Amino acid sequence: MFVFDVIKLIISSDFSHLADLKTETYKFGMLKHMVVPTSKEVKMKPEDMIVSKTDIKGHITYCNDAFMEFAGYYEEELLGQSHSIIRHPDMPRAVFRLLWNKLHEEEEFFGFIKNMCKDGSFYWTYSNIFLNFGAENELLGYMSVRRYPPVEGVEFFQNLYQKMLEVESQYEGSREGMDASWSLLQEVVSEKGGYDQYVCSYFK
Ligand SMILES: Cc1cc2nc3c(=O)[nH]c(=O)nc-3n(C[C@H](O)[C@H](O)[C@H](O)COP(=O)(O)O)c2cc1C
Repeated sequence: MFVFDVIKLIISSDFSHLADLKTETYKFGMLKHMVVPTSKEVKMKPEDMIVSKTDIKGHITYCNDAFMEFAGYYEEELLGQSHSIIRHPDMPRAVFRLLWNKLHEEEEFFGFIKNMCKDGSFYWTYSNIFLNFGAENELLGYMSVRRYPPVEGVEFFQNLYQKMLEVESQYEGSREGMDASWSLLQEVVSEKGGYDQYVCSYFK
């Protein structure tokens, strides 16, 4: 009688969440590493340069050794993936909206970006992301060169991003949240002469 009850319990159990887990785990066609952010920082040095290239859809086609060393992934784990594989949850969505808007308008993006390593630690970068054209002037994709970020810039943007995230979280990830956080970003940088002027001022 007891064995029968146990079998009945197993049959009636809801295992649908296991299907979700599998979808998440195999999202990228390989075992996806579930990264939990930690407070450990890996600092770039002034001589470091982290480089990557993507196709026009933003899938990574090249990354240099420094990229792999900082991010902690092997090349085969990165090629074909989006850079969101190193996206840190402390980064507001509105920053990536700005980044892609710039690229779609054929402009380059400069910004302070906090990235997450495979082991959950993080590294701040000063990133320049721009269009990569071929010999016939056709768009091949995008490229990014990340350099040592000045400390004062990291402090400023860390603070600002935290406020932007708070705004985004009030709207539970909706478009309104991103719009409000975008407005906050524009408001803060306009007091300093505009986003590009302010970001690039750290390198004058
Ligand atoms: C050339 C290039 C470099 C990028 N570098 C980064 C990066 O270092 N970190 C990052 O989080 N996103 C980077 N992105 C933006 C990502 O493609 C993506 O928009 C972002 O991680 C947000 O991901 P999500 O929209 O899936 O949340 C880069 C995009 C391009 C085209």
